[in-house]
Formats: sequence, C-alpha cells, structure tokens
Amino acid sequence: MTERLSVTNVSAGYGGPPIIEEVSLTVEPGEIAVILGPNGAGKSTLLKTIFALTTVSAGSIKLGAKELAGCKTSALVPLGVSAVPQTKNVFATMSVDENLDVGTYAAPPKDKAATRERVLSLFPDLRDKLKQPAGELSGGQRQMVAMGRALMSDPKLVLLDEPTAGLSPAYLERIFDLLLDIRKTGITILMVEQNARQALQIADHGHILVNGRNYASGTGKELLADEDVRRLFLGGAAA
Ligand SMILES: Nc1ncnc2c1ncn2[C@@H]1O[C@H](COP(=O)(O)OP(=O)(O)OP(=O)(O)O)[C@@H](O)[C@H]1O
Ligand SMILES: [Mg+2]
Repeated sequence: MTERLSVTNVSAGYGGPPIIEEVSLTVEPGEIAVILGPNGAGKSTLLKTIFALTTVSAGSIKLGAKELAGCKTSALVPLGVSAVPQTKNVFATMSVDENLDVGTYAAPPKDKAATRERVLSLFPDLRDKLKQPAGELSGGQRQMVAMGRALMSDPKLVLLDEPTAGLSPAYLERIFDLLLDIRKTGITILMVEQNARQALQIADHGHILVNGRNYASGTGKELLADEDVRRLFLGGAAA
C-alpha cells in the first residue's frame, strides 16, 4: 500500500529568501491532489521541494513515517517518489524506449519487462514510436513519454508539473483520463495545473498557493463551489 504524503510548515527556496513559506498539505494514498495558483506563486517550487531540488529552511516532508526533507533526490526515487518537471522533461535525441529506460536507473523495478509493459498499456500511443527520437514526437506524446518514464521506477507517488501545458483541449482530456487510469493502479498523484477548473473536476483535493503560502484547500468539489475561489481562480462563472 502507498503512504500518506505530509508536508508540514515547509519553507524553502533557492538560497536567497524563502519562495514558499510555512506551506502545509497532506495527500492521501491513492488520491489525485492538485496545486493551483497564479504564475510565480511557488507551485513548481513546492513540487521541487518535495523532490529535494530546493533548499528547505524549515518544516517537515514525510511519506508515511519516513522524513524526506534532507534526503537527496537520488534517494527519494528508491523510496517510491518520482517526478515529471514542467519543462525539458524528455531526452530529445534519445528514443522513446531509451527515455523509458532512464526511468529505471535510480530505482530498478523488480521486473523491468512487466513494468514497461504496464506503462505501454497505459500509453498505447507510444508502442509504435519506441524507436523514434522523443524530440520528434508531438507535445502530447512527449508528455506521455515523460509520464511513462516517471512510472518506470514503480513509484508510490508521482509529482507532475503542468502535465497539460501547451496541449490542445483534446489532448488535455486524454492526459486527464490517463491520470485517472494511473490513480486506478494505486499510485498517488500530486500535480500542478493551470487548467484549474478541469483539474479540480478530476482531483480528490486541491490546494491553492498564493505568494508562496497556503491560500485555500479543500476537495475538488468544495473549491469548485467556493465563491472566492471561483472569482479569483476559475474565471468567475459557476461550475
Ligand atoms: N531556480 C530558481 N532560482 C531562483 N529563483 C527561482 C528559481 N525558480 C523559481 N524561482 C522563483 O521562485 C518564484 C516562484 O516560482 P515557481 O516556478 O515556483 O512558480 P510557479 O507557481 O510554478 O509559476 P508558473 O505558474 O509560472 O509555473 C518566482 O519568483 C521565481 O522567480
Ligand atoms: Mg511552475
């Protein structure tokens, strides 16, 4: 079974003043949680902080009973944490298959062939592109490669930074459907999204950050129904 992610009063940044301050959230095992907020709010910084890519000055980040703050990224992957960054998330000159294989380096899955097969059954579009350089794929297909790579270490928790950025509405729906399929396999998903309304529709919980701090948290339904949240973050109109 997967374990709860608990972020408690975390402040972190890039060496200067903290970018996120006293941020707290919990993500229950097997749920989809979404982080929302304006540009520059610190959403990517929060994900990077969980993945040990920033400097944490206060607080605690736990997966189950295990403290992650202070761990190196390379140590997090074997603990079951995997991430897809906001940009540059595939190796363009490497083939799709090689990209997937990179996902096994930090934490080899028990049965690589079985894991690869499971990943390809989630992303069947990639099957006939395995030998193609990832840089030649469409944006949506590249996103699938990046997500597939993140799943190749058999993670318990996947961190996704704007998985639908720059994609057409049709592809956005595909990716969101895929996230629901991934959740069905028991994997916990914490993601950042700009498409707030759609993300809240598939999310179990949402967390809004403003200026590096918690602004609001609730179930997807609660946030969609909240008048302030609607006005400030969802373009006003009722869901
Ligand atoms: N590597 C870095 N070094 C220093 N400051 C950074 C770095 N990355 C981000 N920042 C700063 O941290 C703040 C928050 O950035 P972050 O990328 O976390 O925001 P975001 O909420 O993900 O925004 P967006 O919606 O545009 O992706 C910004 O002021 C940014 O300039
Ligand atoms: Mg960002």
